[in-house]
Amino acid sequence: MTTMKILALGAGGFIGSHLTAKLLELGHEVAALDIVPEKLEGCRKRAGFTYIDCDITREPERLRGLILDADLVIDLIAHANPGIYVKRPLEVFHLNFVENLKIAEICVAEQKRLIQFSSCEVYGKTVASLVPDQLADPDSPDLAFFSEETTPCILGSVQQHRWIYSCGKQLLERVLHAYGLEDRLNYTIIRPFNFIGPQIDFLPSEKEGVPRVFSYFMEALLDSTPMQLVNGGNQKRCYTYIDDAINCIIKIVENKNGVCDKQIFNIGTPANEISIKALARLMQDLYVERFGASRDNLPEIVSVSGEEFYGRGYDDSDRRIPDTTKARTLLDWQPEYDIRQTVDMSMAYYV
Ligand code: NAD
Ligand code: UGA
Repeated sequence: MTTMKILALGAGGFIGSHLTAKLLELGHEVAALDIVPEKLEGCRKRAGFTYIDCDITREPERLRGLILDADLVIDLIAHANPGIYVKRPLEVFHLNFVENLKIAEICVAEQKRLIQFSSCEVYGKTVASLVPDQLADPDSPDLAFFSEETTPCILGSVQQHRWIYSCGKQLLERVLHAYGLEDRLNYTIIRPFNFIGPQIDFLPSEKEGVPRVFSYFMEALLDSTPMQLVNGGNQKRCYTYIDDAINCIIKIVENKNGVCDKQIFNIGTPANEISIKALARLMQDLYVERFGASRDNLPEIVSVSGEEFYGRGYDDSDRRIPDTTKARTLLDWQPEYDIRQTVDMSMAYYV
């Protein structure tokens, strides 16, 4: 395999830090750019690693220079937690769309290949969530089975500003696609479906902000405080263990025979679908069975409204199952870890 000089933007985040470690292991040179270095601690002394402390919104010329110097650009920078979409929607738009568009446009100008992280959130909600009464079987998984090329994107109203994240990611995808149509950009778009694993997020009490559900539930278990189900917890997600996800991303980086050129890939584990309520129970069971907690000390599971938990403007994806046919056929990739292993290995890090 030819090794490359890779610029990883947002390398200090959850996915970026795992990806950087794997790229270094494979012998690539990685310029790992971020504003927070902690998650890259394990990479510091490895050959080929350079940490670049740079806020891309403040140093555009430096960013251009770094892109010029790279064989491949991987863009992971975003505000990626729903709490921020609700509290600071304009910041989400500026970072996730405006700043990311600048990166893409430099790649166009400099003819650099770009791997752009998007999200399964672009699919939005299912038809079943909108018109359940008009469907013979609103619970059919077929209604939530999302395919890259054919599934439309269904978002809530403008007043439900949670969707600014999805909308910004979608518009960026559409711009990349349009550059591709004119043969001006070689890109690959990745739509992750709820990856989890070590270092996913801080625990809620560690610093200000709103992490993802796994961290809330983990802290509730560690501190015996209530596990809160937003709007009852019947909404579902398909969780993917980070190592499975990284194996797929590496195949996209390698891009054998150009199979990823101008392509969009779902990365996710369709068999790992679980409701948030069932996730809370699974984490409780694992905490007792695998980590020695007493069942008597488990936190209670309570329900809370979306508005109480996140604030006004929250809405939700009811269900999303990735169609991974493209990743399977073009990349020969399949995830290995089932939901129990995925949650167990993620919890082990925090316990
Ligand atoms: P993350 O928040 O852990 O990582 C994002 C990183 O970007 C952070 O380390 C942050 O410090 C950095 N960053 C933010 N603003 C910056 C700036 N101005 N300059 C430099 N760096 C900056 O998120 P993640 O979970 O690793 O997600 C990575 C990408 O994948 C994001 O684009 C996200 O939208 C997308 N995604 C992730 C998931 C998932 O399951 N984790 C799901 C769907 C989409
Ligand atoms: C997240 C983020 O939006 C993105 O990083 C990403 O695009 C996407 O996941 C993804 O990983 O694919 P979401 O799954 O809604 O979206 O975020 P979580 O915070 O993990 O919430 C999952 C569900 O749990 C939501 O329905 C939320 O309302 C619920 N929740 C959250 C609870 O029931 N209790 C909590 O304490 C926190």
